[in-house]
Amino acid sequence: MAVREILKMGDTRLLRVAQAVTAFDTDELHLLITDLLDTMRAFEGAGLAAPQIGVDLQVVIFGTDRANPRYPQAPVVPRTVLINPVITPLAANEVADWEGCLSVPGLRGMVPRFERIRYAGFDPYGDPIERTVEGFHARVVQHECDHLIGKLYPMRMRDFTQFGFTSVLFPGLDSIADD
Ligand code: NI
Repeated sequence: MAVREILKMGDTRLLRVAQAVTAFDTDELHLLITDLLDTMRAFEGAGLAAPQIGVDLQVVIFGTDRANPRYPQAPVVPRTVLINPVITPLAANEVADWEGCLSVPGLRGMVPRFERIRYAGFDPYGDPIERTVEGFHARVVQHECDHLIGKLYPMRMRDFTQFGFTSVLFPGLDSIADD
């Protein structure tokens, strides 16, 4: 169990396409997931992907059991460990909303994402997960899974007039001023 260092944008390890997990329910995999959970909690992230702690595997975690202080208006997303994920958009329409990232600290940007998706993958024991989701839940999954193909949210932005420092964009929200 450990809070790990989070790699920051500019580190080329964040640009790799991550390797698929081939062995489930191993000590190594459980240790990785514990570290991801400890690190996500410590930094109050909405999610975290293994490449963000320098691990080149297709593992993401997201969600909490309570409202996230960094995203106080966001609905609660169930805590999930998702391995080898595949995302299928269920509608062509996209919606834009603010995103932040622990690898891009102190900034927020307006990012278009598919409104509604199906995602599939595996839990740490190799049991399948499949969900149809929309809104914030769909956004978080798309953001985290992008980390597995070397994409950070600024690479998905189209309107750079809506990109800036959290402390300037949202001066009243102390709780997210240091993300
Ligand atoms: Ni991120």
